[in-house]
Amino acid sequence: MDKTYYITTPIYYPSAKPHMGHAYSSIVADFFARFKRIDGYKVHFLTGTDEHGLKIQRAAENKKIDPLKFCDEISQTFRDLSKTLNLTNTDFIRTTEQRHIKSVQNLWDKLKQNDEIYLSKYSGWYSVSDEAFYNEDELEEIAGKKIAISSGSTVEWVDEESFFFRLSKWEKPLLKFYEDNPDFICPESKRNEVISFVKNGLKDLSISRKSFSWGIKVPNNDDHVIYVWLDALTNYLSSLKYPDENNELYKNFWPADLHIIGKDILRFHAIYWPAFLLAAKIEPPKRVYGHGWILSGDEKMSKSKGNILDPLEIINIYGLDPLRYYLLKEVSFGNDGNISEEKLENCINSDLANNFGNLCQRVLSFAEKNCSSLIPDHKFTDDDLEILKPLNNLDKIRSFIDNQDINQYMSFIVDRLFSANKYFNDQEPWKKKDDRLRLNTIVYTALELIRKITILLYPVMPETSVKVLNVFNETENSIDFTSIDNNEILKKDLKINKLDILFKKIEK
Ligand code: MSP
Repeated sequence: MDKTYYITTPIYYPSAKPHMGHAYSSIVADFFARFKRIDGYKVHFLTGTDEHGLKIQRAAENKKIDPLKFCDEISQTFRDLSKTLNLTNTDFIRTTEQRHIKSVQNLWDKLKQNDEIYLSKYSGWYSVSDEAFYNEDELEEIAGKKIAISSGSTVEWVDEESFFFRLSKWEKPLLKFYEDNPDFICPESKRNEVISFVKNGLKDLSISRKSFSWGIKVPNNDDHVIYVWLDALTNYLSSLKYPDENNELYKNFWPADLHIIGKDILRFHAIYWPAFLLAAKIEPPKRVYGHGWILSGDEKMSKSKGNILDPLEIINIYGLDPLRYYLLKEVSFGNDGNISEEKLENCINSDLANNFGNLCQRVLSFAEKNCSSLIPDHKFTDDDLEILKPLNNLDKIRSFIDNQDINQYMSFIVDRLFSANKYFNDQEPWKKKDDRLRLNTIVYTALELIRKITILLYPVMPETSVKVLNVFNETENSIDFTSIDNNEILKKDLKINKLDILFKKIEK
């Protein structure tokens, strides 16, 4: 069977237009999906929109439109954004779709059959903005208002009949699960936070609401809608046609390899989700990675704070690939990161125009003038083999990906680019016109370096990388990560195609 990989983004609330934080989660997931694909995996990559709950119902009421119509419109902007971000998602799910509703109701039935659900009454605090219940000790009072400390959102008192999930019963099994699967929660700092939260004791979780109607109905009980997080989390299964566990999608891709999420929704993914699944006797996903926030100044970018940087505007000005490169390289994955136009411009000038762009332009124009735009012959010396060598270590590069060490992956690329530029300078091929074979070999080695590094850049900047690989007559579908292990892929006398300037330096 093919090697398979299942990766997901969070499904986004279509309560407002997408912003840079959403774009970030999606770009990160796309980076992993693309890498795995060029490494020979069959990838299922899921994104979508999370459309039920009081937050959406109220947003639609404010606009005086029917909630489904409201969601249709904004969900489409997220779908459009996936295209604009050049995501290679293989599915886009909406929680208002029948296939999803069916999965959620099935999961509910299974939990009910397993005696994991009971009817009682919920009295406590609820944040509509977070769609989360909070204990008294998770709140503070500011200007007479109760606020959730972790998110800063206001809470309201809820007092109503509700179905409960026996979460408390799963406290010990969850701790055992974390112990047996030490890589389930990443990064490690987040894992420790979750474990200490669980060790402090879990209370049963309210999983239905009675006082509003915008949600999936509890089976055989029209008065209740299912709690939006139980509904939303199940999207990861419904995309695989759960409960039909015998279909190819489910068989090939469950359990998911990686849920990419923001740290704000770690509790739902690292506690509730595996608890629901264990209770339903379904294997939990292999890993949940909680990344940091994209900050605007010192604050989280969010609609309620009104400090949103629109990804579309940035892409219009600078192009998509520079934005993808910036977010993957300059944000330390797992920590909060910052983006400003100034920082983005500096990154474009130093890394893209001066380093990568410069390497491609000077080597290719030298090859055009001195090798008639044909791949030359070669006879490697130790110097050449030495410079190519780090790129032959496939397992090292794979381990950056499998540990979600995006920053190491990126600095590996940057180092290779610097050393390739230095190699071309130090070897001074322009002084070797009397020694054709040496001149040719230097050009050949530099071309191989460009080919290999560009393959590594493909998951980061797909469009630019495909342009560069076209120079060597490679197309997007033929990109093969394992070919960077081979120093002699380029065949003598093959035509070297022209390349336009990749990145213009931004004058300041
Ligand atoms: N609908 C839920 C997720 C359900 S998943 C089963 C949700 N939606 S959301 O639209 O509010 O946010 C989704 C994700 O967007 C966050 O988890 C995070 O991954 C990303 N971001 C939203 N704002 C962000 C930043 N300012 N910075 C980085 N990412 C953030 O929560």
